[in-house]
Amino acid sequence: MRYQLLGRSGLRVSELCLGTMTFGKEWGWGADKHESFKIFETFAREGGNFIDTANRYTEGSSEKFVGEFIETDRDHWVLATKFTLKDRNDDLNFAGNHRKNMFRSVTSSLKRLNTEYIDLLWVHMWDNTTPAEEVMRGLDDLVSRGIVHYVGISDTPAWVVSQANTIADFRGWSAFAAIQFEYSLLQRTPERDLIPMAKALDLAVTPWGAIGGGALTGKYLRGEKGRVPENSIRRNEHSSIIAQTVVEVADELGVTPAQVAINWTRHRNQVMIPIIGASKEHQMLDSLGCLNFSLPEEAINKLNAVSQIELGFPHEFLKSDGVKEEAFGGLYEKLDNHRV
Ligand SMILES: NC(=O)c1ccc[n+]([C@@H]2O[C@H](COP(=O)([O-])OP(=O)(O)OC[C@H]3O[C@@H](n4cnc5c(N)ncnc54)[C@H](OP(=O)(O)O)[C@@H]3O)[C@@H](O)[C@H]2O)c1
Repeated sequence: MRYQLLGRSGLRVSELCLGTMTFGKEWGWGADKHESFKIFETFAREGGNFIDTANRYTEGSSEKFVGEFIETDRDHWVLATKFTLKDRNDDLNFAGNHRKNMFRSVTSSLKRLNTEYIDLLWVHMWDNTTPAEEVMRGLDDLVSRGIVHYVGISDTPAWVVSQANTIADFRGWSAFAAIQFEYSLLQRTPERDLIPMAKALDLAVTPWGAIGGGALTGKYLRGEKGRVPENSIRRNEHSSIIAQTVVEVADELGVTPAQVAINWTRHRNQVMIPIIGASKEHQMLDSLGCLNFSLPEEAINKLNAVSQIELGFPHEFLKSDGVKEEAFGGLYEKLDNHRV
């Protein structure tokens, strides 16, 4: 395991993050406490120090398990949790990014995690309601009080993240150091704006769903069972062709499909720290094997080709000959470096 700085911060995190959405059986497809601990131990043994949970996961069991597992060496761990999603039915203020829910949710998380501080607090998703100023001011207050050390944002449009960090910077508040979103061979749309934004703003990217919830291991092509339902977009005809290609590349390289899928998300020239999910210890062991190699260019090209997406406007327009040649006078050809 090697370590990376978490975006615009001095915090050292392992190059893989442990996802714990599978800790607890409340959602029907997770691991019991014993198996969860084995997954955790395997990750820890390999040198992982970065762990991701959320107030909502498995109705609080995930945070409780994590709190117990890290208790003997709390300060070693970079503990990340999230707020935003509802903790109570039929009560509007028990969800959202507003200050009241932020402070209430964090207080509940601290109890479940049995800790006095959270290393990284994620806004779980944008609620399209609370003003960015309110969110950033609330997060900065948590940091000032020593309850939270760093802040990050998940599942939010790029323009909102840019606006929020600009506000924080100008006011001297804590800005987001990291961003979390779905990114895999089955979900490449973050390449349009989120990934270039993260590079420009020096945000660490922690992609989730790197193996498509298991679909990219090829298990469904072989008729095996798992948590992704048959009618999911992750198992449609196009996704199956991509999964088949992952299996072929893995066979050619003598590695496993999970390792190929994870390493594809890591090949970019910026900080990419996939959050690895597993419901069984052997899956975690398999995934950690990605640390032993990097994908050769040929394999990356093959995977890119089968999973290609349209970048859409304005990206395709700006790359078009009409603009590159005519409007900019061949700028990109003559200039040795350009920014995106
Ligand atoms: N911010 C967000 O909105 C958000 C959303 C989702 C997740 N996350 C975070 O990201 C983490 C990972 O997300 P994820 O679980 O959706 O994505 P994932 O890593 O793509 O999928 C994990 C699932 O794939 C299967 N699997 C894993 N390793 C395998 C292997 N070697 N061979 C065969 N199957 C394997 C298991 O499912 P089976 O049990 O079916 O075998 C496992 O639960 C979560 O734990 C959570 O921390 C964040």
